[in-house]
Amino acid sequence: MASTNTTEIVKSTAPVLKEHGEAITKVFYKLLFKNHPEMMDIFNMTNQKKGDQPKVLANAIFQYACHIDKLALLGDAVESIAQKHTSLSISKEMYPIVGENLLKAIKEVLKDAATPEIINAWAEAYNDLAVIFITREEKIYSEREQLNGGFRNSKEFVVVDKIKESDVITSFYLKRKDKTPTPTFIPGQYTSISINIPGHEHKYTRNYSMSDCPSKKHLRISVKKEKGNPDGIVSNYLHTNINKNDSLNLTMPSGPFTLKESKKPLVLISGGVGVTPLISMYKNNFLNGNRPVIFIQCVLNSKVHAFKNEIDKYATKNTKSIIIYSDPLTLDNINNHNTFKGYLTSKILNKIDIKNESDFYFCGSKPFMINTMNILKELKVNKNQINFEFFGPSEKIAY
Ligand SMILES: Cc1cc2nc3c(=O)[nH]c(=O)nc-3n(C[C@H](O)[C@H](O)[C@H](O)COP(=O)(O)OP(=O)(O)OC[C@H]3O[C@@H](n4cnc5c(N)ncnc54)[C@H](O)[C@@H]3O)c2cc1C
Ligand code: HEM
Repeated sequence: MASTNTTEIVKSTAPVLKEHGEAITKVFYKLLFKNHPEMMDIFNMTNQKKGDQPKVLANAIFQYACHIDKLALLGDAVESIAQKHTSLSISKEMYPIVGENLLKAIKEVLKDAATPEIINAWAEAYNDLAVIFITREEKIYSEREQLNGGFRNSKEFVVVDKIKESDVITSFYLKRKDKTPTPTFIPGQYTSISINIPGHEHKYTRNYSMSDCPSKKHLRISVKKEKGNPDGIVSNYLHTNINKNDSLNLTMPSGPFTLKESKKPLVLISGGVGVTPLISMYKNNFLNGNRPVIFIQCVLNSKVHAFKNEIDKYATKNTKSIIIYSDPLTLDNINNHNTFKGYLTSKILNKIDIKNESDFYFCGSKPFMINTMNILKELKVNKNQINFEFFGPSEKIAY
């Protein structure tokens, strides 16, 4: 627990942190990768180039500075970060490395304003925060190790099947190479894959959600081929170069985006490849709970529409499947009953008789998530019934 003096100094420097937070975290990452190039194996360097990750870290540090005297308020944030860290096998030995480079970055950006007193206070505060994370992460590691098929760090899995789900999404079915049991997980969780790509100096690490429900048979991930300039490195490599009988290194599934205990009807809303954690929840609900569920899939058109048959196969009289095509093909049957054209709107939700006392879970691109949140707000859905996950650095969406 930080001393009163440290608490006061850290709180009083919070506004400075807010102002210079992004600059500090950018310098921090530059120093970290220069002094410890092996860290490039675990960080998503695309998020670094786009600047998303420094913003998220800066915000986390700022929030910590503001709440240093009431850390309990950081609970959910700590849990979400700890889940991300454990998916990446972050170890306690890495904390002093990060701390040292963070303090150097604070000194470099704040210059003379970073007096020895301020630096010492931040060193103490960082150590306290590190202890909170290390303790929680060790607990998660050891709990996961106890699970059926559980393990620490990463293990080799073999691709037992590779199935094309749409023009852009392909599923990989995975089993432990050493034939030990397939690990269990909670639907909505994700793994990390670390991969060497020939011709590239560093490994690449990426998260992929479990797209099937837990089963003894396999784990399944479903990957969208990311196009752009440049094309997505790992997703395209997986599509093109990873085939049946090839191996991939995976960590135990982690993540806080899981169904909360409730009997309320479920509304699952996916945008594009954001369907993966939701189809896992949907299939698991069919097998183990059967809450009434409405599954709304928003996609461009039928060419890129994955899992249509699978969702239909697991439908019951309690299930409704709705499709919204933003750019339908002529053959796509828009009937304004269960298949609509355009983007998700409150009008569509009213038409399909969504109850606003339902629990809502959604995942997709950032514009899709912002639109969905605005609609739920318009429908006066209670904030604590709204759950979502970003396929990138976690961000807040205004409610
Ligand atoms: C919790 C979680 C779960 C996820 N689950 C899934 C899942 O189930 N299925 C799935 O397909 N994905 C999932 N993802 C996303 C996945 O982790 C990868 O981010 C995705 O596959 C893209 O990785 P990549 O290496 O192919 O692309 P990257 O090489 O990282 O590129 C990503 C995008 O950025 C663009 N880009 C690259 N370099 C730059 C640059 N310098 N400036 C600007 N733009 C650039 C690329 O064109 C591309 O569009 C998940 C992510 C998270 C965090
Ligand atoms: C107290 C110290 C730390 C804080 C406050 C912190 C905070 C964060 C936050 C806010 C995120 C983003 C989470 C998300 O997007 O869901 C994150 C992700 C991450 N953290 Fe930490 N972290 C700390 C320590 C560490 C350490 C010691 C490491 C080890 C190298 C580390 C490695 C990572 C990595 C690799 C990611 C994922 C980033 C990516 O996808 O590029 N963190 N951390």
